[in-house]
Amino acid sequence: MNLKKGLFITFEGIDGSGKSTQSQLLAKSLESIGQSVILTREPGGSEGAEIIRSLLVSGETDRWSPETEILLFTAARRDHLEKTIQPALDKNQIVICDRFVDSTRVYQGVARADLGKTVDELHSIIIKKEPDITFIINTDPEKSLLRGLARSSGEDRFEDFGLDFQKKLKDGFVKLSQTAKTRCHLIDGMRSKEDIAEDIFVIVRDYVQ
Ligand code: ADP
Ligand code: TYD
Repeated sequence: MNLKKGLFITFEGIDGSGKSTQSQLLAKSLESIGQSVILTREPGGSEGAEIIRSLLVSGETDRWSPETEILLFTAARRDHLEKTIQPALDKNQIVICDRFVDSTRVYQGVARADLGKTVDELHSIIIKKEPDITFIINTDPEKSLLRGLARSSGEDRFEDFGLDFQKKLKDGFVKLSQTAKTRCHLIDGMRSKEDIAEDIFVIVRDYVQ
């Protein structure tokens, strides 16, 4: 079953907070009630954006300046939006995306540097799209960092900035949830995967009925 209008849902939070887990659980729950769902992620989610992703997530922490990162993440996002997100929304599907512009707002706009204005200006020129619903999974930075690093994915460039960086990110995401109250839901991520998934599904179900 397709909706009359597409629905764009994003998951945000610090590294290892459980975004991918919850994106997958939500996709399964929505599919089980007959919804057509596209599950995607950033950076990545289209052929070109996945190539840009590999440049961003590996290598030394000082490989790119915060300014260069903003340009690379935005270039990847534009390709992802053109090739994956907008076509699915145009077909009235539900798009679930693991990270989107709020990650740039917090990682590049707050934690790496004080560049919030630059992120917002570039976003308003190049992307011009906000999610309908955003879940910010709020977790303990120390525990999440250990969870993230335990994956040994070889994509740890941002984890390598360390614990203080993850603490700044957590504060940035909590603040963001207070400034974008209508679309952002701050979710307590220090519970079981099932309990978190249930809270999220209850919120989304209201949009699809
Ligand atoms: P992210 O996408 O935010 O980096 P993941 O969903 O990949 O996070 O989760 C990181 C690790 O933590 C995985 O090993 C996952 O199984 C585990 N995990 C996810 N959610 C929970 C939870 N609520 N409780 C305990 N472990 C979790
Ligand atoms: P991701 O694979 O989601 O990391 P994780 O599973 O550890 O949460 O994303 C890769 C990294 O890119 C992650 O550390 C966050 C960072 N990132 C930014 O710094 N800015 C952005 O705009 C995006 C989308 C991601």
